[in-house]
Amino acid sequence: MCGIVAYVGERTAYPILIKGLQRLEYRGYDSAGIALLNGSTHVYKCKGKVRDLEELSKDQDISGSVGMGHTRWATHGAPNDLNAHPHRSMNGKFFVVHNGIIENYAHLRKELNNRGYRFESETDTEVLANLIENIYLEQAVSAELAVRLALTRVVGAYGLVISCEDEPGQLIAARKGSPLVIGVGENEYFLASDATPIVEYTDQVLYLKDEEVAVIRRDQLDLKNLHNDSKTPDIQKINLSIDHIDKGDYAHFMLKEIHEQAVTIRDTFRGRIAMDESKVFLGGVLDVMPQLIKAKRIIIVACGTSWHAGLVGEYLLEQYARIPVEVEYASEFRYRDPILDRDDLVIAISQSGETADTLAAVRKVRETGATILGICNVAGSSLSRETDAGVYTHAGIEIGVASTKAFTSQITVLTMLALLLGSKRQVLSSDTYRELIHELIQVPDKIEEILRSEKAIAEIAAVYQGATNALYMGRGLLFPVALEGALKLKEISYIHAEGYPAAEMKHGPIALIDEQMPVVALAANDQSYEKMVSNIQEVKARKGKVVAVVSKGDKAIRKMADHVIEIPDCHEAVSPLLAVIPLQILSYHIAVMRGCDVDQPRNLAKSVTVE
Ligand code: F6R
Repeated sequence: MCGIVAYVGERTAYPILIKGLQRLEYRGYDSAGIALLNGSTHVYKCKGKVRDLEELSKDQDISGSVGMGHTRWATHGAPNDLNAHPHRSMNGKFFVVHNGIIENYAHLRKELNNRGYRFESETDTEVLANLIENIYLEQAVSAELAVRLALTRVVGAYGLVISCEDEPGQLIAARKGSPLVIGVGENEYFLASDATPIVEYTDQVLYLKDEEVAVIRRDQLDLKNLHNDSKTPDIQKINLSIDHIDKGDYAHFMLKEIHEQAVTIRDTFRGRIAMDESKVFLGGVLDVMPQLIKAKRIIIVACGTSWHAGLVGEYLLEQYARIPVEVEYASEFRYRDPILDRDDLVIAISQSGETADTLAAVRKVRETGATILGICNVAGSSLSRETDAGVYTHAGIEIGVASTKAFTSQITVLTMLALLLGSKRQVLSSDTYRELIHELIQVPDKIEEILRSEKAIAEIAAVYQGATNALYMGRGLLFPVALEGALKLKEISYIHAEGYPAAEMKHGPIALIDEQMPVVALAANDQSYEKMVSNIQEVKARKGKVVAVVSKGDKAIRKMADHVIEIPDCHEAVSPLLAVIPLQILSYHIAVMRGCDVDQPRNLAKSVTVE
């Protein structure tokens, strides 16, 4: 939820921290802060964005070649200067930046209160800083041991960087549940919540594992677990270049990522479809193929946009693999007593692989013996480590807070999985199998065609930029796309929007329709086309404004709708991959026209690593 960056080395830490925080701002942007260690520790922190922090620290002492920074998405305590990280322990011995949530913080705070500790902020992180200090002072142990002892008392999730005034030139990092990457340079180390602040300095990284603690000086890294067992650092080369994290000529990451989708979908199926288009090959599921083939039921767990991709997966897996599917919000599923057994297959979908509810759902399933498959974008993420098997989406790093290319890559994986399982279970004719593979391969070119109509879509956006509400409707495979279109609009433009299965409109939502209400109708699928025509007529009869997404050459709906966006003709199975593109573009332009901060919408963060 928050972003952490830190540096130990010979360079001046400040610019590395500031640039790193800018890269991590997608993780949270309520407040930002840095601590620079140079003899004594200077802390600068404030409510607002990294640019506000830069302004604040402009005329200050920013020297020092050791430091840590933080950009926050508030959990405990309002976004204000006092609650911003880094947090200092009461006697000034420790400074801490934290990503995660200390669930038993109230209990610990009370205990520390009784020992005379007073708190400046409302945060769980300050409690941790004081807990470490209290152990350090009372038990007269090293900073590292104090950290480890404190962490054995903590319930919750953390990615942490900690400094101790008495042990200069050293940072201590620890992780449980919240990611932390260490970049290994020549006489220097970089720490961050993901690799984006690190890539321009080194491609050698170490992903800290749960309950690992690293003690880092510029020329030394000691890795151990909470119980003091030494660990050998598994340093890997990362495949992420600076181009991947640069907006290039695009005004926003979201726009860049929308435009990347022809490429990212190709990356998703690259090497997974035979050259002669005869079969799908998903290396990541080979180990569990027998369980997949005999699965009696599939349960998909996910949140947000990934949940919408799961709904598309439900249609595809039922239709082409003939396996019953249920799609669950991970946040609900984790608190139920789900009835699962070894013949069930659970698919967890997550772009980040760090969403707390999705991970908790996976852990719940683990107790039942069902097979767990992950569909995930971030290599090395918690989800990828906690599933029995998985398929990476290979969409590349997604920085815009509103998910776009991750969604289409997730659907691409689900399509391949449905086809693969349909074929292996011998419920899909080889002709349909080949036809659908061919259709999937055509998708990137068709997306490029849709992207060429961006200007026309922006003109439609101009008409509706002042709307206060919007409805989205679709049927079959395009119903989840309606949900996703509505989510994209509300999260970045703050226009209230809802998606509905078109036939449900009559059961209530149609009451909302008047001449002010834009209705985005997804009418590009063959099977339900006639029914969508009727649904559009029902909206028009009540004076609603209709923006219809139709297949190229459509005539009937063009006569009724106020605005029409054409997408290339395609097989229904791949229609979600095409139909969502104009909706992303429409939301993007409406949000820009309304002056919204598209890449950093209010109250949101990219990875929801807390409940
Ligand atoms: C919406 C969006 C969120 C995420 C959700 C799950 O644009 O990005 O709804 O889809 O927070 O995140 P992941 O996929 O990382 O588990």
